[in-house]
Amino acid sequence: MNPGKEQRVHPLIVRITHWINALAILVMVLSGWRIYNADAFLGFRIPSEWTLGGWLAGALQWHFAAMWLLALNGLAYLSYGILSGHFRRKLFPVPPSAVIRDIGAALRGKLAHDDLGIYNAAQRAAYLGAIALAVVLILSGLVIWKPVQFHALGQLMGDYEGAKYVHFFAMSALVLFVIVHVAMVALVPRTFPSMITGRVRGPTPAKGA
Ligand code: HEM
Repeated sequence: MNPGKEQRVHPLIVRITHWINALAILVMVLSGWRIYNADAFLGFRIPSEWTLGGWLAGALQWHFAAMWLLALNGLAYLSYGILSGHFRRKLFPVPPSAVIRDIGAALRGKLAHDDLGIYNAAQRAAYLGAIALAVVLILSGLVIWKPVQFHALGQLMGDYEGAKYVHFFAMSALVLFVIVHVAMVALVPRTFPSMITGRVRGPTPAKGA
């Protein structure tokens, strides 16, 4: 990056869909925890202060409302990412050796992220993983919602009962991603305004992911 020169790092559509997705996922997770509590099939309950919807029917309404937002907005992000070449340019390639090297460097606090226009291999793998998890969540959610209509899809994940576990564990992995993702943003704070304005000015040496 040229010192002092403004660089465009995130296209408008990526920024809009990113923040709508983040909001939709927050609502889906909090309302989903309330829905889980009605059945608590894993034997523990989530504290109701961490849930959204007040009661099962209220939580289901939040969950369905955010589901449409996530599905339509996610579709817009995926279509743009694939058709414009954004994914090819920013999220590929992801050589496993580079991912391992970058995760090791991140754990030692030595991962450079000086050029915000380029994601390191650990970021690429994490973002691709998060996208895959969102797809698994939507597909397993469809099986739980309409097990008869999505019977063939359900067979891939152990039908209705299996889909409940797939849905819960994919949610847990996505929540873990969000925790690590937000921690990484906190370590390199100038990434945050860049995801709002789309721009970044000059290189400031930064460590982290
Ligand atoms: C809730 C679920 C979230 C998901 C699934 C998610 C996913 C992603 C993905 C896939 C990207 C890459 C976008 C691209 O270039 O195509 C990204 C970038 C980014 N996200 Fe998130 N995100 C989430 C929440 C958040 C939150 C809460 C914050 C704020 C603290 C945040 C801050 C950022 C920033 C700053 C970048 C750009 C990173 C950089 O330039 O190095 N994200 N996120």
